[in-house]
Amino acid sequence: MLKFDNVSLKYGSFLALDKVCLHADKGELVVLLGANGAGKSSLFLTASGIHKAAGGSITWGAQELVGSKPSTIVEAGVVQCPEGRKLFAHMSVQKNLELGAYVHRGDTGPSKRILEEVYALFPILREKKDDAAGSLSGGQQQMVAIGRAMMGRPKVLLLDEPSLGLAPLVIKQMFEVIQRINQSGTTVLLAEQNAFAALKIAHRAYVMESGRIVREGKPEQLLADDSIRKAYIGA
Ligand SMILES: Nc1ncnc2c1ncn2[C@@H]1O[C@H](COP(=O)(O)OP(=O)(O)OP(=O)(O)O)[C@@H](O)[C@H]1O
Ligand SMILES: [Mg+2]
Repeated sequence: MLKFDNVSLKYGSFLALDKVCLHADKGELVVLLGANGAGKSSLFLTASGIHKAAGGSITWGAQELVGSKPSTIVEAGVVQCPEGRKLFAHMSVQKNLELGAYVHRGDTGPSKRILEEVYALFPILREKKDDAAGSLSGGQQQMVAIGRAMMGRPKVLLLDEPSLGLAPLVIKQMFEVIQRINQSGTTVLLAEQNAFAALKIAHRAYVMESGRIVREGKPEQLLADDSIRKAYIGA
């Protein structure tokens, strides 16, 4: 289980995360909803060891992640696909994917097989494997970002707004792929503003406002809630 227990984060004097408690059980697909600035990315960056929590603990099984190095956290199986994709635009698609396996460079055996799995999941990436990542469409770049995270051999995948800026049809395909990744055994924590589509594939969801978790529930409970619908679905 990935567990956030009273996690706080400060940027200077600004409290970006205020005693956040949240968990994702093994095999779950958990969605984190929240408006711009709610703290979703901050939470992910803290789990990944990019930011250091000011208080609380984040555990993956028996392992404490607060204070661990980002590379150690990836090695443990907690892998982030960051908001905005963060690809190396001038490097080829395949080089970008291979970089996702960097922490496993001492044990390259499985990486070839996982690369094949990524190409099976996103056939267009095989066709474009030698193209510069920056030359791909937004949706294709998002596929590279997800594929690169998979090369890190995630047991838990932290997906930060994968649908950002994509066309509706591409978003639909993206959510189908995320569901497939989850169904093949990877625990997924998915931050999304595309609340309706995300809730449709979620097992459970949290709502975040101003650094705090304000709601937790099953997708059907949140979808049935008028205030949630007004704030996050617009219907
Ligand atoms: N590096 C930083 N330094 C200072 N403040 C920051 C930093 N990163 C984020 N913040 C602030 O922390 C708050 C939470 O930001 P965060 O990026 O986590 O929100 P978010 O929920 O991911 O929003 P979005 O949906 O727009 O990506 C915001 O008020 C933001 O301005
Ligand atoms: Mg964000």
